[in-house]
Amino acid sequence: MRWLKVASVSDIPPDTARIYHLDRLLPPEGSMSTPMEVAIFKVNGTFYCLNNTCPHLGGPLGEGWVEGNVVICPLHYWEFDIRTGESPDDPTLCVTTYPCKVEAGYVYIGLEEEAEEGP
Ligand code: FES
Repeated sequence: MRWLKVASVSDIPPDTARIYHLDRLLPPEGSMSTPMEVAIFKVNGTFYCLNNTCPHLGGPLGEGWVEGNVVICPLHYWEFDIRTGESPDDPTLCVTTYPCKVEAGYVYIGLEEEAEEGP
């Protein structure tokens, strides 16, 4: 797991999200399994990170409406639990989530490092 500093805690007001383009934040070296855009939500004082791309038709989840622990996609109103990425209506519909931690006033997200390819 590699932790990437993405935002200041003050960048994300309560019960909202901000979208971050990770390709601008990643160092050029190394390889990680990386989404290009993530949405970081702050709900009840806790930060959560989802892939920003809705699995339906690619709507920007970070521009959706937050109601409790749910984000509603702005395009066709599918709903996802911000904590788990699962749809409350159909748990087989899922958005990828990434672990978050806060250190020294910054939000970090955890990304899996890809295994090195052998010879
Ligand atoms: S793109 Fe999100 S519900 Fe259709």
